Amino acid sequence: MLAIIGGSGLYDLQEFGQPHLESVATDYADSAVELELYNTPQGQVAFLPRHGKQHAVPPHLVNYRANIAALATVGVTEIIAVNAVGGIDAHAAPGSLILPTQIIDYSWGRASTFCEEGQGEVVHVDFTNPFSVELGRRLLAAVYQRAELEEDSRTVLKHGTYGCTQGPRLETAAEILRMKQDGCDIVGMTGMPETVLAREKGIDYAMLALSVNWAAGVVPGIITMDEIRAVMEDGIGFVRKVLETLLKATE
Ligand code: HPA
Repeated sequence: MLAIIGGSGLYDLQEFGQPHLESVATDYADSAVELELYNTPQGQVAFLPRHGKQHAVPPHLVNYRANIAALATVGVTEIIAVNAVGGIDAHAAPGSLILPTQIIDYSWGRASTFCEEGQGEVVHVDFTNPFSVELGRRLLAAVYQRAELEEDSRTVLKHGTYGCTQGPRLETAAEILRMKQDGCDIVGMTGMPETVLAREKGIDYAMLALSVNWAAGVVPGIITMDEIRAVMEDGIGFVRKVLETLLKATE
């Protein structure tokens, strides 16, 4: 089964009607994870808003293990994650879409593995290429198809490196400069450990990142929530259409 993990600005898949709600207990949280199951032309699709329905859970407090474990429990084999990011590379302007191919983790203190003491032999998962090439290809095809239909001319980057910071504060200009020197093209707060936990569970994972602002210091001035909100509203509107195309595609 395919799952969509919604980031900031994406809290449902209402285009597909009323979801069936499923509460899934996991070993990683006292309360169950609430999944929405939608019937789409592609079959059942699970939806999980990463920050909760009311966007009340900040990036450093998201229970990534519970979320991924719950998706694995209901039989999810593929995840498309939608993430709002800041643009570091000159091509990742606000409004552009990026399908990252690499990731660097600057976050800290997050429970970032299912591998725990006393569970038998230690497993070192391969993470050379953190994102699924095959799923990314299907996602990109849907992006291009929908962009043509809507005559939407936003920039689409089909590769790039996502740097994951701790948040919830935004970065300093010096931090972004260092990340740029490290090779980061975009910056967000939720890509890790979500991506690696999916890998540990054997779930294919691809990310659709929406740039909602220039990262700190990339252009003069400071970052305001007002500018982010406007870009996010327009961008998520297009992302919804891309998901509609993807979930209606018959392959
Ligand atoms: N930094 C980190 N995370 C983000 C940003 C940013 O500039 N914009 C959206 N998510």
